[in-house]
Amino acid sequence: MITLRRADWLFAGAVVLVIIGVSLLPSPRDRNPAMPATPEHRGLFEKDCVRCHATGQSRPLPERHPGRQDCFRCHKGPDMAGGKS
Ligand code: HEC
Ligand code: HEC
Repeated sequence: MITLRRADWLFAGAVVLVIIGVSLLPSPRDRNPAMPATPEHRGLFEKDCVRCHATGQSRPLPERHPGRQDCFRCHKGPDMAGGKS
């Protein structure tokens, strides 16, 4: 049977505190531009975004934009009312 020493309990507590602290950090979405509340941004799925926001489409992304497809992770939408999805 393993016995935990006092130092082990302190370490376990510190790990829990770090995990809680990280989970309370602001999500990146709070800092990035949100989708404007225009009709074209309502009721969309992520795969719809690239219809307009891709090279050669009506509203291409800037060159230094991250090349990721999980748009909602970083951009809040007008339908989300500021909440976490
Ligand atoms: C029908 C075309 C169209 C689709 C589909 C579309 N957008 Fe847009 N988007 C635009 C246009 C046009 C603008 C500029 C609107 C303005 O500035 O008023 C814009 C602006 C934005 C902006 C704000 C840019 C800034 O400078 O603040 C974000 C963020 C954005 N779109 C994200 C998305 C995401 C995420 C999706 C998918 C859910 C999406 N868009 C789907 C056309 C589209
Ligand atoms: C890792 C986070 C992240 C993801 C994922 C992401 N974006 Fe962005 N996006 C940003 C940041 C940060 C900016 C602001 C960049 C800047 O100011 O240069 C931005 C800016 C934009 C803009 C404004 C561009 C402009 O003309 O000023 C649009 C539109 C946009 N993103 C659409 C999208 C779409 C569509 C997707 C999914 C295909 C997406 N984003 C995924 C972080 C992200």
